[in-house]
Amino acid sequence: MLKVTELSKSYGKRKVFDNLNITAERGEIIGLVGENGAGKSTLLKILATLSKPDDGEVFLNDQSYKKHYRAHRKIIGYVPQNIAVWEDLTVLENMKFFEKLSPVKKSVKEMKHLLDNIQLDRYKTRVSQLSGGMKRKLNLAISLIHEPEFLLLDEPTAGIDLKSRIEIGEFLKNLARNNNMLIMYTSHDMNEIKEVCDRVIIIGEDNFYRELLSDYMV
Ligand SMILES: Nc1ncnc2c1ncn2[C@@H]1O[C@H](COP(=O)(O)OP(=O)(O)O)[C@@H](O)[C@H]1O
Ligand SMILES: [Mg+2]
Repeated sequence: MLKVTELSKSYGKRKVFDNLNITAERGEIIGLVGENGAGKSTLLKILATLSKPDDGEVFLNDQSYKKHYRAHRKIIGYVPQNIAVWEDLTVLENMKFFEKLSPVKKSVKEMKHLLDNIQLDRYKTRVSQLSGGMKRKLNLAISLIHEPEFLLLDEPTAGIDLKSRIEIGEFLKNLARNNNMLIMYTSHDMNEIKEVCDRVIIIGEDNFYRELLSDYMV
């Protein structure tokens, strides 16, 4: 489904990555790891069509991003590192707001079902009253309204309680399995990566992660 060939990206003189190659299929969960500043978020933004590489190409279902990024956006879900929801609206009002922007329409019942699946049933609670874990879950639910085939998550479990972290991990495994989705996500929690991901990609020259995750690398 996804093919990344000889991808390079620099900011000024700083080379973030060079000659990166990835292939991945639907149904897989891939962990992206690397130290802070290694380029994980940069790669996710490129794969989400929100940033352009300097060199190399990305293909989704054999179609290049250069020509088809508009069509690709309809089948990509992306949750940035910083939570992007409306604090003054309730959980359900947020869902309704983002549903209006979605190319795939959802009824209120379907949106509640989506929230139930991710164990966030506080529909009428204002977002400012939610815990960090619940906000993450809401952000994730919003990214699924348009039924993406390829889901990109930037640190979806950073700084949240253990229960939410485990629930999000289980939810992602079910999504990959039941909806045949390709999921790529970053985390600093190596136990979680081993538990949730089918394999990992290490960004940057970091032997610490390479040794720690040698069994999971392809
Ligand atoms: N918009 C930008 N302009 C300039 N430098 C950037 C920009 N975004 C990220 N960087 C730099 O690129 C490197 C990789 O950043 P990032 O992709 O955020 O890493 P990570 O997510 O792995 O922590 C860092 O050195 C960062 O400072
Ligand atoms: Mg980052």
